[in-house]
Amino acid sequence: MSEFRVTTETQEAPFTTSTEVIYQWNYDPEVEELRRLYVKAAEAQWVSERDLDWERDIDMGLFESTPLGLGLPIQETSYWRGLPAQKRLELTRKTAAFRLSNFLHGEQGALMVASQLVNAVPHTDAKFYAATQTMDEARHVEVFAKYIEKLDEIQPIAVPLKKVLDDTLQTGDWLKKLVGMQIVVEGLALFSFRDMRNLTEEPLLKDLLTYVARDESRHHAYGVQYVERCVPQLSASHLEELEDFALDAARTLIDARRSSTLFSSVLEIWTNAGLDAAELLESAGKELPDILAKQNKKRRLGPVQGFVIPTLRRCGLLSDRVATHYHEMLAANLSPSVAGEDLEDFLSRIPDLPEDTAAWVLSELQEDELELPAGVSAQPTA
Ligand SMILES: [Fe+2]
Ligand SMILES: [Fe+2]
Repeated sequence: MSEFRVTTETQEAPFTTSTEVIYQWNYDPEVEELRRLYVKAAEAQWVSERDLDWERDIDMGLFESTPLGLGLPIQETSYWRGLPAQKRLELTRKTAAFRLSNFLHGEQGALMVASQLVNAVPHTDAKFYAATQTMDEARHVEVFAKYIEKLDEIQPIAVPLKKVLDDTLQTGDWLKKLVGMQIVVEGLALFSFRDMRNLTEEPLLKDLLTYVARDESRHHAYGVQYVERCVPQLSASHLEELEDFALDAARTLIDARRSSTLFSSVLEIWTNAGLDAAELLESAGKELPDILAKQNKKRRLGPVQGFVIPTLRRCGLLSDRVATHYHEMLAANLSPSVAGEDLEDFLSRIPDLPEDTAAWVLSELQEDELELPAGVSAQPTA
């Protein structure tokens, strides 16, 4: 145990946010669906120490099945398979430590945003729900930190994620906080957790992600149900601001035309571990269409197109104005045959949100949605 200090070496310099505080004197249920969600959340509380078996060592034999998170089966390429087994495992471990570290730091951001929402949202039911989310997020921080320490070591937060968290913490508009956190960040997280949970065969990681993903599906539902209720009451200019806030966050996280994205960070990790990233991407670009065809798999939509955009549409935050920007961004990052040839084509490809996100997040991955286009680049699915 280290000595107790008020100021520690690991803490960052404080910054000021403009969160407002609202008392609400009506304690009766007012937003029934949020009240129900709050009860569900209270019933579904779990305890890391009690419910997960931390005595188990991480099964490194099974760990290699953990996905790299690029949305493509890089592990099937000849370049990757030609690497010595030890190297492959090291790369998988480093990549997972990076991804899990960013999940972890994202959870800290969610913890703080959820607690801000307790102060800022105007309805009692919404304050209650944000309180249960705050508790959930504390647990998520706890379990990710613990798992990474077993696996490798905690890596610093990626620059783009830090920016989105800072912006979401700093805005004074609680609706922007909901859009930034519950819709964009947690939408992306839900998609990644589902992917990792489905594909990894490492038992402790699978168990942990099952618990976390179940909580996250409620957090996302909170954002959807609350924002959807509010949208019809907002001015046109406020709606535009919310749309832009979401777009900005999505761009920061996935637009590869910007200097730094989560994808470029993964490539950097690989390069540092001695891998020739350019050669890997080249072999991936050539081989992936065949690999996917042989597996009889179709390319799934990525987290933005497949989940965040459907969420925004459901909430009433996808005007043609902002949809045009999304299409332009996705077309630049993927091929137009994935993003859609034009706005109309893009809009026609947006799937409906799953009826029951809690069931969806725990369901097997579907081979669905889009055919892999010929000549796909090995860029991340966006
Ligand atoms: Fe979380
Ligand atoms: Fe969450």
